[in-house]
Amino acid sequence: MTPRDIVIQTFRQQFQGEPELITRAPGRVNLIGEHTDYNDGFVFPMAINRALWIALRPREDRLVRLFSARYEEMLTFDLDDFENTNAGWGEYAKGIAWALKENNYKLSGWEGTLAGDVPGGAGLSSSAAFEMAVARAFGAVSGFAWQPKEMAKLGQYAENRWVGMNCGIMDQMISAVGEKDHALMIDCRSLEIRAVPLPSGTPVVILDSSIRHGLVDSAYNERRRQCEEVAKHFQVSMLRDVTLEQLLQEKGNLDDISFRRAQHVITENQRVLDSVAALQSGNTAAFGKLMNASHDSMRTDFEISCPEMDILVEIAQGLPACYGARMTGGGFGGSAVALVEQAHLEPFIRQVQQAYTDRTGLQAEVYVTQAEKGASLE
Ligand code: GLA
Repeated sequence: MTPRDIVIQTFRQQFQGEPELITRAPGRVNLIGEHTDYNDGFVFPMAINRALWIALRPREDRLVRLFSARYEEMLTFDLDDFENTNAGWGEYAKGIAWALKENNYKLSGWEGTLAGDVPGGAGLSSSAAFEMAVARAFGAVSGFAWQPKEMAKLGQYAENRWVGMNCGIMDQMISAVGEKDHALMIDCRSLEIRAVPLPSGTPVVILDSSIRHGLVDSAYNERRRQCEEVAKHFQVSMLRDVTLEQLLQEKGNLDDISFRRAQHVITENQRVLDSVAALQSGNTAAFGKLMNASHDSMRTDFEISCPEMDILVEIAQGLPACYGARMTGGGFGGSAVALVEQAHLEPFIRQVQQAYTDRTGLQAEVYVTQAEKGASLE
């Protein structure tokens, strides 16, 4: 059954009637540009063909009731009276309601069901997808227009302030504004977007390492703090404003960790720009090399990879069908992304999975994905 079928069927069971609206918001894979978004830098993600779905109908009262098919659990809260109870998945929905109210949106109650096929913890932004699906649901029942960039900002605000994860804007943005068959270069300072068609004959392949580390949020928040401290050292608001020359000149006055964190961000921003230029001139091989360089930088300078991920990426990079591969997303496990020649896709997948299991004893899930449109009413 598709997630769409699941939300409809579950709705009938839970609420004895038909849903009136269906929202969908996709997960994402970032092709290059990691931990650059909260430094006002550049990212290059695409929305994937996996999404979270909500089937819903308005309620007369002020309640929101949302049943998760995955957790088999009903979330209920009153729009005029709710608190953060750190109660897991439901906080993302409450966080969106809170952020909308904080920004003076008038909200109506609704009831719905949630299901999806974005694997959790895999670095594919299932939480941003959930947030954008909820934002679309509120928009549809409360009658305000869908403004994707505004909703992405609200999603980030909810995650920063309600959930306590100091994420940047990338995940919510791409889930809200994604375009079919395109990756989007996003300038995270101006929120300007450039849509870049993906090269044909080279599918984007997601390799899930199956590694799920605890304490990811605190390690993530720590990286962000480190970046902000280096920016302060240079007396600029964000690392986006420091050049590589300036960093190198200042090396003697920075501790080793600060230097390497900044070196990752500054060179990664340049790699995003170079990647877009490479793809626009049809140079897929050059793009692949930049992906590989990005992984090295995350491993050695930013230190957000892990041994199993390094093995997975090394295996993928070593196969002739692979243009390039790197870890994607926040890090500390999750997934890698690889660009692979279509003609050799099947053996590539088989060989990666076999070699990964041989070397780590773990199983890698593989998702071949296409770029899809952002959050929608279906
Ligand atoms: C997570 C965050 C994003 C971004 C990436 C790393 O996915 O939510 O804002 O910082 O990590 O690039």
